[in-house]
Amino acid sequence: MPYIIDGKAISKQIKDELRDEVEKLTEAGINACLAVIQVGNDPASTVYVNNKKKACAYVGINSRSYELPEDTSEQTLLDLVQKLNEDPEVNGILVQLPLPKQIDEDKVIRTISPDKDVDGFHPVSVGRLWIGEKGFLSCTPAGVIQLLKRSGIEIEGKECVIIGRSNIVGKPMAALLLRENATVTVAHSKTKDLKSIAKRADILIVAIGKAKFITKDYIKEGAVVIDVGMHRDEQNHLCGDVDCEDVSSVVSAITPVPGGVGPMTIAMLMNNCVETIRGREERA
Ligand code: GUN
Repeated sequence: MPYIIDGKAISKQIKDELRDEVEKLTEAGINACLAVIQVGNDPASTVYVNNKKKACAYVGINSRSYELPEDTSEQTLLDLVQKLNEDPEVNGILVQLPLPKQIDEDKVIRTISPDKDVDGFHPVSVGRLWIGEKGFLSCTPAGVIQLLKRSGIEIEGKECVIIGRSNIVGKPMAALLLRENATVTVAHSKTKDLKSIAKRADILIVAIGKAKFITKDYIKEGAVVIDVGMHRDEQNHLCGDVDCEDVSSVVSAITPVPGGVGPMTIAMLMNNCVETIRGREERA
């Protein structure tokens, strides 16, 4: 049986560490506040936003909620973001995606001040990541690195294959693995002979967006598999991009869905929120 990488436990460990850190900062009179904006009431977004607010309460970070109607104009949202950029009480701004079609997501992301970009989506944050400068890291890929490190899985020198090239997961994942001295391949929907490329991986990271797509034919014996997908199968059960039953005889370690990568995204968001106030006690 493979080792099951427990994202829920690791995420709790991180949140507990952050809670201790925040407690000390609070005693020194330093507080963090995350502004969370949701436009419309997509049920999945509501669940994510509520989980983020719950995590803030757990860690000891203040959160402010902005719930805007589905028909909100782009300008109204941009004005709100600008107001929060200028608000000294707000340390982090999160605009839950996706946004309704009348709003240009890129424009909104670019309007968030890079100093408050706790999602790590602003082009300045992305640039900092690629050149190895300090900045906010995209939460899901940063969570994957923590899962590996805290499970004692070495990254340096490993062949890592990422399937998926999104701005939120695949691309920042490649940058972070490079930073850890891995050899990185990014495969995607146009990749030829995906099976043989995936089979090179010591660590395979799957963010392809297709339920149970990865079977054991894609996996080298003993590989570590990180499943970033989240879907519902025919029985309405949650499942990932990896057919975990099929691959369990070949992998050495795997993240479950749910309870793998998912909880890590929020833990790393909390880390980014704490990052906005870190070190302030020395300066106070
Ligand atoms: N929608 C799905 N995932 C995310 C995320 O990590 N951040 C934001 N802002 N929206 C999302």
